[in-house]
Amino acid sequence: MTPDSPERPPLRPPHPLALALIEDTRCAAGGRVLEIGRGSGRNTRALVRADFEVTSTEGYGDLPQTGRFAAALSTHALLHGRPAEISDALVRIAALLEPGAPLFATFGSVRDARFGTGEQIAPGTFAPAEGDERGVPHAYFDAADLRRMLERAFFVERLEERCVDAIAGTWAHPNAALAGAFHWFTVARPRESPAR
Ligand SMILES: C[S@@+](CC[C@H](N)C(=O)[O-])C[C@H]1O[C@@H](n2cnc3c(N)ncnc32)[C@H](O)[C@@H]1O
Repeated sequence: MTPDSPERPPLRPPHPLALALIEDTRCAAGGRVLEIGRGSGRNTRALVRADFEVTSTEGYGDLPQTGRFAAALSTHALLHGRPAEISDALVRIAALLEPGAPLFATFGSVRDARFGTGEQIAPGTFAPAEGDERGVPHAYFDAADLRRMLERAFFVERLEERCVDAIAGTWAHPNAALAGAFHWFTVARPRESPAR
């Protein structure tokens, strides 16, 4: 079934960072984009329609082993898991990007209403005790910690906090709308690495 199949409910609009990537990387249309955590496929569809060649994954646990991408996108997927896992995934993502190619990504913010609720399973990481995402770890960062994590492998070009109640989509929480969800919207480019 494709994202446009009549058997599926209509997709929500693409994420603002997907649109920003398309705008920023337009001259590389036809180039390869890595999408991490496709969910319902709303961003995949927008990228394909903008003529990018898209490699998309379920999450950051199934990143390609090799590749050279003109850009990467991850919206509301680098939220799940422990900070150490997310940090290691960022290093792997940086190695898959062409020099100077952008990563457009969201991360959980400590301002989010869910921060500190449920079971704490790692620093800044909580799993809801009930609801659609019961037991799923969510990692939340303040600006300094997020910048530090990104700077292992990236230069941070843009970092801003946004309310995402109307943006995050319903893939992970079909039964209860988000209220007070805040995420960081970031644009970052890989540092030069000796492995290149
Ligand atoms: C809320 S969806 C976001 C989908 C899409 N990027 C969007 O914005 O519509 C979350 C994504 O994170 C992935 N994910 C869910 N739980 C995860 C986990 N525990 N570890 C890693 N990835 C997870 C899912 O496969 C899904 O693609």
